[in-house]
Amino acid sequence: MAMKQNNFLQIAIDGPVGAGKSIIANLLSKKLGIVYVYTGAMYRAVAYLGLRNNLSLENNEEKIFTLLQKAEIELTPTDQKDRVCNVLIDGEDVSDELFTPEVSWGSSVVATYPKIRQELVKRQQKIAQGQSVIMEGRDIALRVLPEAQIKIFMTADVKVRAQRRWRDLQKKGYQKTYEEVLNETIDRDYQDSHRETDPLKKVAEAWVLDTTNLTIEEVVDLICQKIKEKGLIK
Ligand code: DC
Repeated sequence: MAMKQNNFLQIAIDGPVGAGKSIIANLLSKKLGIVYVYTGAMYRAVAYLGLRNNLSLENNEEKIFTLLQKAEIELTPTDQKDRVCNVLIDGEDVSDELFTPEVSWGSSVVATYPKIRQELVKRQQKIAQGQSVIMEGRDIALRVLPEAQIKIFMTADVKVRAQRRWRDLQKKGYQKTYEEVLNETIDRDYQDSHRETDPLKKVAEAWVLDTTNLTIEEVVDLICQKIKEKGLIK
């Protein structure tokens, strides 16, 4: 799609687990020909790094921060069907390790630490310098890209979000009941929206997009329409 010249396009998508952010942002990035940044993968990589170094993730901000400072986390595009991007830690592809229940919960734990957030926000802002991006997470509109031209708060009914996650986990071979996944989703929602530093919250100007009854294609079309309406693409 033809992009307007001069300034870079920044699209921020925030929202809870299972709202559809990753799959939709990734499809949009391909359609628009801009870089996709899955910031949750960076928090997941930090949790994995801690666990791999036998650290307890709870009450351990300093040690985990020290590990992070020494580590390079890279997100690269992928053609693989089972992931939206590749995640590399110091050049090693750890993408397949990041969706275990331990890492999922751990990522929400390390995301409560202000030092970890500060460091990752800095790295995310660096990625967005000098290129158009579509970035998704929890604090993108609020903290990472406050100047983004499009700010979306993507959400869906918690039962539908848990269904989607349960199906994803089943495809990846995890044996969990739907009730377990629903409870985990509720717990992660609570932790992500009640932490002290930059909890998940809709910024005043965000466009609320409820995906409960929409297909992926419908959501992608709605966002494209919005971008066109704003004159950001031709
Ligand atoms: O998007 P995700 O569910 O894969 O993210 C994993 C965790 O990382 C999520 O529970 C909260 C945290 N996170 C965050 O605090 N801020 C972001 N910008 C992205 C993710």
